[in-house]
Amino acid sequence: MGDILGLGITHYPPLSGKDEDMAGILRGRLADPNVPADAKDPANWPEAMQKEWGDDQGVAAAAHHRELVLKGVRKARKALEDFDPDFVIIWGDDQYENFKESIIPPFCVLAYDDMDVYPWRDATESAMFSNKEDKWGGGKPNYWGEGKDYSIHIKGKREVAKEIVTRLLEEEFDISYAYEPLNHPGLAHAFLNSVLYLDYDRTGFPWPLIPFQINCYGRGVISYRGYVSSMGEAGRPLDPPAPSPRRVFNLGAAVARICKESPWRVALVASSSWSHAFLNEATYRLRPNIEFDRKMFEALRTGNLTAFRDLPLSALEETGNAEMLNWCALAGAMTELGSECIWADMVETYVLNSSKVAAIFEPA
Ligand SMILES: [Fe+2]
Repeated sequence: MGDILGLGITHYPPLSGKDEDMAGILRGRLADPNVPADAKDPANWPEAMQKEWGDDQGVAAAAHHRELVLKGVRKARKALEDFDPDFVIIWGDDQYENFKESIIPPFCVLAYDDMDVYPWRDATESAMFSNKEDKWGGGKPNYWGEGKDYSIHIKGKREVAKEIVTRLLEEEFDISYAYEPLNHPGLAHAFLNSVLYLDYDRTGFPWPLIPFQINCYGRGVISYRGYVSSMGEAGRPLDPPAPSPRRVFNLGAAVARICKESPWRVALVASSSWSHAFLNEATYRLRPNIEFDRKMFEALRTGNLTAFRDLPLSALEETGNAEMLNWCALAGAMTELGSECIWADMVETYVLNSSKVAAIFEPA
């Protein structure tokens, strides 16, 4: 019988940057001429948002935010170290990075071999920089001061990944798989940042990794390249939707079952922030839907995990919560195992794009 640890973390890209850049997404939205002046005026913002913005456009708030978010990330790291799995499966999104016009799989198990990944050299390929402008000559400035030649060796686990795909197909989940990247060198940011953050203190990430892509961005994955767009760009023809929360939940449950019936020690990780300001139309994409996130966080914390299964996809789309699908997979897995959430925290913010949730489930 396998042993399984469930974790949830964020892969929020600005956490790899500097405090002074962390509110960059909001600054970009405020520069959008198609956002009404009233909505941009801090005097009309919720009080907590005004406070965070302060007189330094969120720089001090960013330092505090980093501290709070890292507390959860480091707790997850500690749980991972204590559990010491044979490998880690990360559920994450692909924001028009590896999967583009040639194919958008609803789900894809990346059954890669070991690879050397260059996080900063290849950052221009990632969603944060989808305009492909090479702003830094191939070396993104980062929190650690690492250069473009910095690389990390990430171990793969192809044979196990193939076995999981095989078992999922036998359970009638029509899963895609890939042995090598298609459009993005190395790993898309959901997976890469998860590794970078679970190793924030740079002591190493020794565990083999199986990235498990979920098409979270659905209708906006090609049309809006899974990222920020100007209000003036509204009305582009949309793509077909993401898979439903119920399907993703059931898939997560199947993965947990397969792992449980195996001899493996496995860490299952949901990677993503929750409501994203830049996807939240109701606020002109200026701030996330914190009320919705609070409700879902309460469900997570109190073990009401089927609340994730029962979400209509429209609820995720309307609250800027595309990426919560990654957590629907974890919720399904933990429900299948009967694992209890033993620690969870939600870091709220209005000016730093998204709510950051971290969670640890009792190994089962
Ligand atoms: Fe993402």
